[in-house]
Amino acid sequence: MAKKVKRGRHFLNVPGPSNVPDRVLRAMDHPLIDHRSQEFFDLVKEVCAGYRRIFRTESAVAIYPSSGTGAWEAALLNTLSPGDKILGFESGQFATLWKVMAERHGLSVDFMPGDWRHPVDPAEIERRLVADKSHSIKAVTIVHSETSTGIACSIPGVRQAIDRAKHPALLMVDSVSSAGVHEYRHDEWGVDVTICGSQKGLMLPPGLGYNVVSKKALAANKTAKLPRAYFDWQPMVDANQSGSFPYTPPISMFFAAKEAIAMMEEEGLDNIVARHERLAEATRRAVRAWGLEILCAEPRAYANALTAIMVPEGVNADAVRAAILEHYDVSLGAGLGKVFGKVFRIGHLGWTNELMVIGAIAGVEMGMGVAGVKFKSGGTQAAIDYLGGNSAAHGR
Ligand SMILES: Cc1ncc(COP(=O)(O)O)c(C=O)c1O
Repeated sequence: MAKKVKRGRHFLNVPGPSNVPDRVLRAMDHPLIDHRSQEFFDLVKEVCAGYRRIFRTESAVAIYPSSGTGAWEAALLNTLSPGDKILGFESGQFATLWKVMAERHGLSVDFMPGDWRHPVDPAEIERRLVADKSHSIKAVTIVHSETSTGIACSIPGVRQAIDRAKHPALLMVDSVSSAGVHEYRHDEWGVDVTICGSQKGLMLPPGLGYNVVSKKALAANKTAKLPRAYFDWQPMVDANQSGSFPYTPPISMFFAAKEAIAMMEEEGLDNIVARHERLAEATRRAVRAWGLEILCAEPRAYANALTAIMVPEGVNADAVRAAILEHYDVSLGAGLGKVFGKVFRIGHLGWTNELMVIGAIAGVEMGMGVAGVKFKSGGTQAAIDYLGGNSAAHGR
């Protein structure tokens, strides 16, 4: 039988990798240059300065040829020693993977249990830190926007909990799906290591991993004993200051990053957050109109990057996701880990707009029909009413 041919644009609505702007793709289409040339040094310095503005920091930024997982590893290896204790929170699959990585490096993780439906409770962090009289906990690790659940937590709330406990632990924040999506303030929030990856709100292909490193974290680096080589901060931070790299850098990604940063600054960081808030709210209105439930049970913790949708009892969410892809060419995120088969996720992050999100929502609505899911129609209309000029729907 002939293979079914697809025509028209594919809808990439996984919550990362996100759509890469055409401008960024064209910027990557640049002949390679010598990475030991002044031209490349200037490019690296410009890109690092741009990321300092985006992460709102004066601190050092280390950029690795890695995905977000490499940036997690870099954060741990550069600040901690074998047997050190860290305090984490089970926000979902990514927090769990980070914890497993820490344990594989011989760290001991006090992992606060979570139900994957609520954000971390800062009071619980405070309680555990106050109880840690000997200051054996060396770091608090938190995923800002948990991409497996669509739940975002308050980093200022976590910071205040650490301060109230008068505890010296480092604060490490995974901003992989919050940078360029939610407000993010590395310096003001007293974050010691911000971890990020290029392929979501930063509007790049996968391939760059970031550590933003406070002075306190750099000081911890001096005594940290976990073995590290490729991910060692010191040569990377020193080299990045002069624009050089301790090894062959992903040159094309730096051309891309320069363009993506320019696009983010043209729009303005606050406007980027507002756009994501609107698109996320439109998606949630669609879900409610369908009569389905959003996995995040706490409205103040809704993530802007994605919405995780629970399917009715007895329905396999992954089969629904597959049907939507097959029939309408919309890629959605699968349920990960504990929620596999129970949810699917609509990504609405990065280089996206009203009609791209409406298109994805329409594909979901049509695909749920094909898959035989019992739901009320009208979700797409609810999103249109919210994003469009229908003043009655806005309550204006
Ligand atoms: C919140 C979060 N942290 C970490 C990761 C891991 O990043 P990567 O897949 O780029 O290694 C992801 C990936 O989706 C993520 O969403």
